[in-house]
Amino acid sequence: MRLVAIAAILALGGCLRSAGTQRGLAIGSAASAAYLGEAQYSEVLGREFALLTPENELKWDTIHPARDRYDFGPVDALVRYARAHSMGLRGVPLVWHAQNPAWLTEGQFTRSELVGILDGHIRTVVGRYSSVIGQWDVVNEAIDDAGEPRSTLWSRIIGPDYIELALRSARAADPDVKLFYNDYGIERSGPKADAVFRMVSDLRQRGAPIDGVGFQAHLTAQASLAELQAQIDRYRAIGLDVAVTELDVRVPVPATIASLQAQADVYRGVFKACLDATNCDTVVVWGFTDRHSWIPAFVPGYGAATLYTEDYEPKPAYHAVIGLLQT
Ligand code: G3I
Repeated sequence: MRLVAIAAILALGGCLRSAGTQRGLAIGSAASAAYLGEAQYSEVLGREFALLTPENELKWDTIHPARDRYDFGPVDALVRYARAHSMGLRGVPLVWHAQNPAWLTEGQFTRSELVGILDGHIRTVVGRYSSVIGQWDVVNEAIDDAGEPRSTLWSRIIGPDYIELALRSARAADPDVKLFYNDYGIERSGPKADAVFRMVSDLRQRGAPIDGVGFQAHLTAQASLAELQAQIDRYRAIGLDVAVTELDVRVPVPATIASLQAQADVYRGVFKACLDATNCDTVVVWGFTDRHSWIPAFVPGYGAATLYTEDYEPKPAYHAVIGLLQT
């Protein structure tokens, strides 16, 4: 059965990126510079994906390790790889509460100092990659699980307008790049999704430069696709795009035939929701192989969350997605 499916894909010359492109969908994956030396990793990434999101390399602790020093090396390695494979890039994140260096978190800065540091960081990083990064998740996870503004270094010292300041700095650094607010758990209805919608609507009404909202989509096999569709739709109604930015679908480990099938249904449903929406043209998976997924280390008891096995065999989810794209 699987051989038949693989033969059908080969006969169509199929891969995710070409099937996606034919349907107007840019399909990407998070990737890490550390794994590019792995032959199979590098081969599958370049063959299957049209977009690359650096998984950790653009976070402040890596790219801005000291106040007066940037380390562009790891991102540049990914940019070289992407160029060599005719891939675009998504950038994430410019402002987040996690993976920040001690010089920043323990710096005891005044408001005006921190505003200057944030503006300088954004202009430097966005400016440097303006010819290659087409979409930026500018602010990541500013709303907490209860739907309240998250208390972070940025909100405590700068105040709630750090979000608009960051968007304006990014726009000043690159007038053409698409700017997103990015969060998890907003793929389903609830107080968090409502709070993000209110915040983003308000930013839009005030003329802040925001083009869309990133739905991280770290899902389980029980995710509601109807709720996802409704959430995408409410942003269409206010003129904003949605990008699926960090898709994975975790299952309890060890995975079973049934759980992998349920996972495949959710993957297919997410791609279908984006295909069906006029305001969604980007789906990025958060890693493409179970060999290098963040899930087992962060969500005990769960894993097998990606499109490929640890041995780079395409899973039922892969076949479900490419089957959808080719119909
Ligand atoms: O680079 C060091 C390495 O030098 C060290 O030996 C090793 C020891 O643990 O740690 C390495 O750093 C790890 C880093 O990933 C790179 O592998 C960190 O410990 C680890 O915490 C970090 O995890 C990342 C996580 O964000 C941290 O918050 C995951 O890879 C990354 O997938 C995950 O991504 C986030 C998105 O940015 C935002 N949305 C949620 C998503 C999942 O948490």
